[in-house]
Amino acid sequence: MKTTTGYSGIQIGLHWLVAILIVIAWFTGEGAGEAMEAFEEGATATGFVPHVFLGLAVLALVVLRLLVRLGRGAPAAPGVPGSAAVLAADWGHRLLYLLMIAVPLGGFSTWFLGLDVGELHELGANLLMLVVLGHALLALYHQYVLKDGLLRRMMKAE
Ligand code: HEM
Ligand code: HEM
Repeated sequence: MKTTTGYSGIQIGLHWLVAILIVIAWFTGEGAGEAMEAFEEGATATGFVPHVFLGLAVLALVVLRLLVRLGRGAPAAPGVPGSAAVLAADWGHRLLYLLMIAVPLGGFSTWFLGLDVGELHELGANLLMLVVLGHALLALYHQYVLKDGLLRRMMKAE
């Protein structure tokens, strides 16, 4: 993949928009669970379920984000190339992308395809939130303890 000097405005905008939508999706999941139950108990229409709408928006925006990243590239993680910290950052970001795609796909399969993967979807969503928490704490550690200005990379386009 191409290495750039910084993230573009689109990459930065998508990072924060997707982050906000994922957190709201996580908090609204229960509503989708209740709608599923009502449906199973014989309701014919579920009405508008915000969680499904949010989740689909996350899926579409993450696919877009991945395409932008593959096309434009991304800056190398700070640190010595090949070091454990750089490898951890690269694989951590890959894991985030994997979960950002797999979790909505699990929700999609439950809601639209009627597959019995609701629990797996919930488990994946909780795992995603845990990885995100670690990601955010590491970003803050870089910014305020290592003082390497990492947060600025996701604030200012280059
Ligand atoms: C649901 C929440 C979040 C997700 C899914 C997420 C995901 C990601 C991913 C996949 C990257 C890799 C770069 C890319 O391709 O965009 C990244 C970079 C980054 N994120 Fe997040 N992020 C989230 C929340 C946060 C939060 C809350 C912070 C700050 C406290 C943060 C700070 C950063 C920074 C500084 C980078 C750039 C790292 C670098 O330059 O190597 N992110 N994020
Ligand atoms: C990143 C995006 C998503 C996150 C973070 C997320 C998170 C969650 C969470 C935490 C739950 C469990 C709620 C509970 O019962 O307490 C849940 C349930 C559910 N979600 Fe998602 N979700 C996402 C995307 C989607 C999408 C795209 C769909 C459908 C198109 C969807 C459909 C559902 C359904 C149907 C349930 C209920 C499952 C069941 O009770 O068997 N989700 N979601």
